[in-house]
Amino acid sequence: METPADTTESFASFADRADAAEPVDLAGPTDAAHRVAAVDLADPAFWRLPAPARAAAFAELRRRPGPVYFGDRATGRGFHALVRHADVVEASRTPAVFLSGPGVTTPAPARWVRLLFGDSMVNLDDPRHAQLRRIVSRAFTPRLLGRVEEDVRRISTALVDRVERDRPEDFVSAVAAELPFQVICTMMGIPERPRREILDLVNRTSADIGVARTLSRRLRSPGRGLRALARMQVIVAGIGRERRRRPAEDLISALVTADVDGRRLTGRELGAFFTLLLVAGVETTRNALAHGLYLLTVHPEQRALLLADLDGRLEGAVDEMVRHATPIIQFHRTVAVDHELGGPGGPLLRAGEKVALYYGSANRDEAVFPDPDAFDLTRTPNPHVGYGGGGPHYCLGAHLARQEMTALFRELFTRLPEARSVGEPELVPSSFDHRVRSLRFTF
Ligand code: HEM
Repeated sequence: METPADTTESFASFADRADAAEPVDLAGPTDAAHRVAAVDLADPAFWRLPAPARAAAFAELRRRPGPVYFGDRATGRGFHALVRHADVVEASRTPAVFLSGPGVTTPAPARWVRLLFGDSMVNLDDPRHAQLRRIVSRAFTPRLLGRVEEDVRRISTALVDRVERDRPEDFVSAVAAELPFQVICTMMGIPERPRREILDLVNRTSADIGVARTLSRRLRSPGRGLRALARMQVIVAGIGRERRRRPAEDLISALVTADVDGRRLTGRELGAFFTLLLVAGVETTRNALAHGLYLLTVHPEQRALLLADLDGRLEGAVDEMVRHATPIIQFHRTVAVDHELGGPGGPLLRAGEKVALYYGSANRDEAVFPDPDAFDLTRTPNPHVGYGGGGPHYCLGAHLARQEMTALFRELFTRLPEARSVGEPELVPSSFDHRVRSLRFTF
């Protein structure tokens, strides 16, 4: 039986590989400038390399005829790396072949964790995924979404007020993390009182994501994260019980009273969904906002273009930030039946094998994006896969994330047009997300 120390629990976890595969030799005579001698995407060391070296490795992988397998294919310990746009889209949109169960992160959540905390929809396949997603989507009524838009604007204004007043140094803690957190709590109907404790718990749950610890190959401390998660679920289940008795106009009330196919969310499912929203909606948006401010700072010509027509260009800018930064690097799928990638005659993926969908690499695919490394906020079309490659698991919060980023940057640049980052962001190396720990800023 697994112990807490052997497991990870949520949306955010990733290739924790003590049994690193043989590195793949990618040295190419045509690639002298960024020669990558050996690449192992499963090795945490790869994710500590400078960004240009990682980008060069992915560019090289994209030039290969088929997906490279990292690990020992004979024993199935490893995965095929899907690095091209077309392959990521195919895997996302063929859910009968590319399963999300038992988990899209590596290692998959242990069975006892799933039993205790409830499966979150990101790790489920039909029919359970469709059923949960229907309940949740039904709760996102136009009325609720209309109110959320107002909330997003109100919270953005309050945050910029605070920036002007207190002149904080770190954009991440003062603005980028605060906005999505307050928005999700307001949307769910979490009272003010437990919010600080919940934010602290979120931070503790995700504190060890990444490969920041250099002395150990283990990448996080799941035991501590699990305790925080358990506490969070208790708080939310309590609020759910109360709203069942006295419904209010919020998402928790809608979720515990909505009756779809004779079903509504149980306390455990509610807790799992709330945790998913927090981890999926806060971390991602926070990183997108931080990368966005940095990108606009180091590309002054793009910034000038944006400020010259904020209303006309902000939407495109926000999408380009998500393409360029790609807050979530990858998710896994498990192959259900033997499948030839790209059609008959394509590389064979065998039933039971894992594939990793590298969104960041797909978003730099030269076959789809001309000059893919350029940050170009006028890029049209921009079919990036930052929110997933389409299909049933496509990001539930994509619209909300766009709203948040647009509202915040509109408020910030309208009132403080000199706002810009200072120095380099402090990044947390990770194979799962492009996490920014802190980013100094001024205005
Ligand atoms: C810039 C911000 C965001 C990015 C880059 C992002 C990215 C993603 C990605 C890549 C997926 C997986 C898609 C797939 O497997 O096909 C996903 C799923 C999901 N996201 Fe987001 N996300 C963001 C913001 C949000 C927000 C604000 C929320 C919630 C309020 C949210 C909630 C979810 C949920 C619930 C899922 C799982 C959907 C399912 O399995 O059916 N995300 N997101």
